[in-house]
Amino acid sequence: MKQIADFTIAKREQLGEHYFTLTLQHPGNMETILPGQFVEIEVKGTREVMLRRPISIHDVDAEKGTMTLLIQIVGKGTRQLATLKEGDKLNVIYPLGHGFATDAKNPLLVGGGAGIAPLLHLAKCYNEKGVRPTILLGGRNANLIPVRDAFKPFGTLAFATEDGSLGEKGLVTQHSLFQVSNYDLIQTCGPTPMMKAIAREALKADVRCEVSLENMMACGIGACLCCVCDTDEGHKCVCKEGPVFDARKLTKWIG
Ligand SMILES: Cc1cc2nc3c(=O)[nH]c(=O)nc-3n(C[C@H](O)[C@H](O)[C@H](O)COP(=O)(O)OP(=O)(O)OC[C@H]3O[C@@H](n4cnc5c(N)ncnc54)[C@H](O)[C@@H]3O)c2cc1C
Ligand code: FES
Repeated sequence: MKQIADFTIAKREQLGEHYFTLTLQHPGNMETILPGQFVEIEVKGTREVMLRRPISIHDVDAEKGTMTLLIQIVGKGTRQLATLKEGDKLNVIYPLGHGFATDAKNPLLVGGGAGIAPLLHLAKCYNEKGVRPTILLGGRNANLIPVRDAFKPFGTLAFATEDGSLGEKGLVTQHSLFQVSNYDLIQTCGPTPMMKAIAREALKADVRCEVSLENMMACGIGACLCCVCDTDEGHKCVCKEGPVFDARKLTKWIG
C-alpha cells in the first residue's frame, strides 16, 4: 500500500562528481517493496522545483527499516537533493509502480547510467530465491558506472564502456555476454536507445524482456496523465501501470 512519510537521511555518500546515494530510515514496513518500484520525493529549499521527483528504489534493508536511492545529478531538483545531509528529513511517497518479475531461472539484468539503480534490489531478490543473475552494466566510461562493487556478491558481473575504461569496450549490446538466447528473461533499465536496442534483440530471439521506462512524471499515481506511453494495449500511465513493461506490449515504442 502506498504511504507518504518523512524519512530521515541515515547515510549520504557521494560517488564521484555525478552520483550520490541516500539511505533513508523510517519505521514503516519495507518488506513489501518490489524491485523496480520507485518513490516520489519532495524537493524542498528551492522555489524552482514544484513537482516531486521520481527515483527508483535501489536497495532495501527491511530489518533496519531503510531504503537506499542512487541519484544522478542532472538538473535543479537533483542538484538540490545533493545538498541534503545526514539527519535531514525527506518527504517520500512510496512504493509506487509495477515492478520487475522475479520468476526467471537464468535472467540477464542490463543497466545503463542511473538505470543501474533498480537492478541491485532485483539482483538481491533473485539471490533470496537461489538464482544468480548475470548483471551487465554499461556507460560511456567507468566513472559513469556507479556502485558497481555492490553488485558483486549477487551475480555474474560484467561491464561495457564506450571508451574501454572498464570491462569490454563498446555498448552493452556488443558485450560477449549479451547473447539473448542464453537467458530466459532480459530485464533492463537505462537510456531509451539502449533499452530499445535490447528489447529489439530479445523480441527477435523470442526471449521474454522487461524494460523500465523513465518518462517524465508529476503525480506518480496515475492522476495527471503526464507520463502516458503509447503501448500495444493503448495508452498507459508509466507511473501506475509501469514503469516496468513487458517488451512484447511495447512494439510501437520499440519501433
Ligand atoms: C520511474 C522513474 C525512476 C527513476 N529512477 C531514477 C533513479 O533511480 N536515479 C536517478 O538518478 N534518476 C532516476 N530517474 C530520473 C529522475 O527522475 C530525473 O533525473 C529527475 O527527475 C530530474 O530532476 P531534476 O530537477 O534534477 O532535472 P530537471 O532540471 O527538471 O531536468 C533535467 C532532466 O531530467 C528530466 N526530468 C525532469 N523531471 C523529470 C521527472 N519528473 N521525471 C522524469 N524525468 C524528469 C528532464 O527531461 C531533463 O532531461 C527516474 C525517473 C523515473 C520516471
Ligand atoms: S505521473 Fe501523473 S499520471 Fe503518471
